[in-house]
Amino acid sequence: MEERIVSGEPQGHEDLEERSLRPQTLSQYIGQKAVKENLTVFIEAAKMREECLDHVLLYGPPGLGKTTLSMIIANEMGVNLRTTSGPAIERPGDLAAVLSGLEPGDVLFIDEIHRLNRSVEEVLYPAMEDYFLDIVIGKGPSARSVRLDLPPFTLVGATTRAGMLSAPLRDRFGVVSRLEYYTHDELQEIVERTADVLDVQMDKQAAVEVSSRSRGTPRIANRILRRIRDFAQVRGDGTIDLSITKEALELLQVDPLGLDQIDHTLLMNIIQKFRGGPVGLDTIAATIGEEAHTIEDVYEPYLMQIGFLQRTPRGRMVTDLVYDHFEMEVPKR
Ligand code: ADE
Repeated sequence: MEERIVSGEPQGHEDLEERSLRPQTLSQYIGQKAVKENLTVFIEAAKMREECLDHVLLYGPPGLGKTTLSMIIANEMGVNLRTTSGPAIERPGDLAAVLSGLEPGDVLFIDEIHRLNRSVEEVLYPAMEDYFLDIVIGKGPSARSVRLDLPPFTLVGATTRAGMLSAPLRDRFGVVSRLEYYTHDELQEIVERTADVLDVQMDKQAAVEVSSRSRGTPRIANRILRRIRDFAQVRGDGTIDLSITKEALELLQVDPLGLDQIDHTLLMNIIQKFRGGPVGLDTIAATIGEEAHTIEDVYEPYLMQIGFLQRTPRGRMVTDLVYDHFEMEVPKR
């Protein structure tokens, strides 16, 4: 199927369920206290002035709620949400098509905004700043520039790495918010809320267990919860208790800290093939068969957060905590 550049709503069954699981308002949104408090004020102020909200950049590891927040922003502002992504917008004309279809005040969500190419970025600057597009029509001597006025809109950009955004683009966002990993308490609250929305009975101890094994990430917690629900339905009476939770997590190969097979492979490789490091990212990627940017965006941030991995100028190193976790002797260095 041809990829649509912009879509109104997510499609498909899990997506539908996903959408109803997502909080719809800032008051339903759990965690990210600073981001939430700031947005609450900025949204209220924009509404009082009857203006659209300034452009918002959300950055941080995947699964922490960037898409959800964009939906909430549109909902709280009472406007439409249009979603697209950096890689989907290949040419300036693609961006022009998306922007010229907006209604006044709409929110345009661009996921993976760091992957916009330079020529598209340049068209985006005047659109963000003064709501117009300068597009070149035709080629060679007959080429001419056409100015197209746009309705005021709010751009919500999301990226896993703000450092990969060009400085001129980053500077055009009035609100820049970094999403943090969630605490176990916040994740527990999210898991309990999700169980409620899914209408499944879940013991508190089970929610505590899931929250401590979800790497600070609601998307992971909710995914694990769905799989445990499957186990509870097929192997039990549908109720999620601690024992079915532990059994399911074992079968899903999620360890007590929430690390999965790929985390294990990554860490064990550094230990066994590179004596604990330092070793370069590309070398790790080649030896475990994962893309370097996936390791960098998805796996490393949490391993660094829990103090398992360090970045040094000479490469990545595991810390003594990893040897303890795997019940291995810490080598003499
Ligand atoms: N579901 C996923 N993330 C959530 C959050 N931050 N708050 C409430 N429910 C959620």
